[in-house]
Amino acid sequence: MIHHARYTGLLDRYRDRLPLSDDTRLISLGEGATPLIRLQNLPKKLGRKVEIYAKYEGLNPTGSFKDRGMTMAVTKAVEEGSKAIICASTGNTSAAAAAYAARAGITAFVIIPDGKIAMGKLAQAMMYGAKIMQIRGNFDDGMRLVKEVANHAPVAIVNSVNPYRLQGQKTAAFEIIEELGRAPDYHCLPVGNAGNITAHWIGYCEYIASPDDHVTGACDFGDGKSPYAGGSITGKRPKMLGYQATGSAPFMRGEMIDNPETVATAIRIGHPQSWDRAWKVVEESGGWFAEVSDEEILAAQRLLTQHEGVFCEPASAASLAGLINDLNAGKIEDGSSIVLTLTGNGLKDPDTAIGQCNGEMPGVEKATMVTVDADLESVRNAITGFMD
Ligand code: F0G
Repeated sequence: MIHHARYTGLLDRYRDRLPLSDDTRLISLGEGATPLIRLQNLPKKLGRKVEIYAKYEGLNPTGSFKDRGMTMAVTKAVEEGSKAIICASTGNTSAAAAAYAARAGITAFVIIPDGKIAMGKLAQAMMYGAKIMQIRGNFDDGMRLVKEVANHAPVAIVNSVNPYRLQGQKTAAFEIIEELGRAPDYHCLPVGNAGNITAHWIGYCEYIASPDDHVTGACDFGDGKSPYAGGSITGKRPKMLGYQATGSAPFMRGEMIDNPETVATAIRIGHPQSWDRAWKVVEESGGWFAEVSDEEILAAQRLLTQHEGVFCEPASAASLAGLINDLNAGKIEDGSSIVLTLTGNGLKDPDTAIGQCNGEMPGVEKATMVTVDADLESVRNAITGFMD
């Protein structure tokens, strides 16, 4: 007999740990179960004896981790009778919202910052059929507007202020624990609204019981302890490291900022929605926030592609950029295991990728590309040229 176990997405996989009932209609595209890739060349290149794993969230159905939260949020919106959803977005949330709305047969309204969204993400929102509002403003303006509009119109907000989003996103931590058999020592993430770092911590706290839970109240964000907390295993949880781009680093400045800037447009956010919770995550886990420059982000994106064959978008590379700084600063000891969340696929932002390789970036070699005639002689000459 053929053994078959068709994977049908993370809601079905983690049904017991999510707010779902047996007859809930699941709106799914088979998201989750993304690869946890052990980096082979970078630890050597960095001269460090550490285990580094990349959780490649760019392989979700719409190319980012947002699908984890969106399958949950749209499933609940539909269950509760919504005919429309709305979000503000730097791009990935809008792509995911548009896709899951299409799947559910409802309308997605998305608000995006004019000109500051990567081309792949815009193409997705358009193709999936979202109603798109480009605003002359940034993500933070969009977020304010979404909250105002939702008070006046019968639409469900699917930004991470919607608690179901974090419920879906926490499953990334479950997958990591199940694959490694334990939590890593450190977990590095890029931080924008800080929803994802919060969701990962919820996931770790629910899955792993810790002897000092009664001291820290881990996993209790003021709305009571999670109903899914119980702990399938006992052990250590990771230190959570949140990295921000220097021009968009409210957690480093200690206050909200008004004109965030960074090449990593996904995390061009000055007023994070999960401010208090993210501080609690970092404190409880014994981790920290740090900032990385745009140059460091772009260099990390190149390192991952050129030495590991893993292509993520710039915001995602902030996690590696920050890790490299912390390794160099001696903040992470030899023997540590580290997971990086690579939040989005490199194909999301082709302009930045090509801009890195067209010879216009200081200190970066131009991509090796020549245009030749379509005959054997020309191609052979070109190959010889490349070999010299
Ligand atoms: N990485 C990527 C690729 C993102 O798209 C985002 C957020 C983050 C990291 C940060 O995650 O906000 O939970 O701290 N993108 C949102 C969006 C804002 O609209 O797509 P966070």
